[in-house]
Amino acid sequence: METNRSSQHEMLARQTADDRARGQFVVGLKRQLRAMTRGNEMIYSRLAEPRFRARHGRSPDTIEEVGAELAQESYYRLWSALTRGAQEMMWDTVERTIARDMPRMLDAARRLAGAAAGGSLSLDPAFVPPPDVLTADIHCQPGGYMRSEGGDDLMAGALYESGGNMYSSGVGIGRRDSKAGAVIGFLAQRFPQLRPRRILDLGCSAGSASVAYAASFPDAEVHAVDAGPAMLRYAHARAEAMALPVHFHQMDIRRLRFPDQSFDLILSHNLMHEISSATMARLFAESHRLLRAGGLVIHQDGRPAPAGRGGIRARGGRGDRVAEARRTGHVVPRRRREVSRGLGASAAAGSPPGWCSSRRCRTASRPSRPRGPCRIPSRPRRAHAAPGPWVC
Ligand SMILES: C[S@@+](CC[C@H](N)C(=O)[O-])C[C@H]1O[C@@H](n2cnc3c(N)ncnc32)[C@H](O)[C@@H]1O
Repeated sequence: METNRSSQHEMLARQTADDRARGQFVVGLKRQLRAMTRGNEMIYSRLAEPRFRARHGRSPDTIEEVGAELAQESYYRLWSALTRGAQEMMWDTVERTIARDMPRMLDAARRLAGAAAGGSLSLDPAFVPPPDVLTADIHCQPGGYMRSEGGDDLMAGALYESGGNMYSSGVGIGRRDSKAGAVIGFLAQRFPQLRPRRILDLGCSAGSASVAYAASFPDAEVHAVDAGPAMLRYAHARAEAMALPVHFHQMDIRRLRFPDQSFDLILSHNLMHEISSATMARLFAESHRLLRAGGLVIHQDGRPAPAGRGGIRARGGRGDRVAEARRTGHVVPRRRREVSRGLGASAAAGSPPGWCSSRRCRTASRPSRPRGPCRIPSRPRRAHAAPGPWVC
């Protein structure tokens, strides 16, 4: 069984021909809008940046300054509105499919709960939702990652997988590309002797990476953690449907209820860009506490700017914006965000590593490129296929 975006399994919502047509439209629109981002770069370097420079005698230095300047351009405003609309259309499209197929999916999940793959699901009724995931619908996923109606509800996980597949297609990620696949390839190349006995996948969402590790290391015991109960119900049923044993736990990555030194391979995928600097510091501290001697920790996400190249880097990720929104009461935070230049400055300040995943942030040292327009929600092409994992 393939463990990438081409995986077909019993828990995947079944599309009608109409659903497929609607999905193709959304993917086409997203691709078109991605192509239009070049226009944003052009209007920034030819219009917005020179105008700001003429007024202030310097280039914009924060995403707020860049955003405010770009927002004066009708091209950018149109692109921005369409991009937001396309993202909402994507969720609307997959939610319709899932809602129609939900009775079948719930039946399948009930049956699979006792399946023989050997995985498990442990939900915590006293769980206190972490603020990073509670306050905002990250990526506009309806209801957010914590969405749960209780009982058997698994909508959040179903949305995450189907929406993620459509999103990836819209940004040009191939159906056979996978974040875990890239890390597994990296491990085979760099650590061919690695035979982990216990693996931990942090912020597992629908469990797509967790099952990939279970498939690649069949002798290992794979554990996976997330905050969202409906995310985990879906992940568990999905893993059982794929006959891959994974133990799913509802836990906060800031306070993991595993004993010290209990894993020899600890991973996360695309988690860091969504958590606050404070949570990231806890993620690293917990990874260190749980790691056995000789083990490996790999936290994979979008590639940061090379050190010393002068690229602008926003400290922290979406989580910081969410934390800020919570403090200020704004749904869309407006406060100036702390920005540091280059990895060196960030490390020298003693802050945990943090960066913006926007490609243009990472190439901000080039004079013809905008400097730090993090409001532009574009992702690097094929970011998941070539994640550049960091090993610590
Ligand atoms: C972008 S998703 C990760 C994607 C996933 N690793 C994959 O490979 O598809 C981030 C996940 O981290 C979870 N998360 C964020 N903060 C968390 C926390 N403090 N504790 C537990 N899970 C958290 C969210 O619920 C969400 O499902």
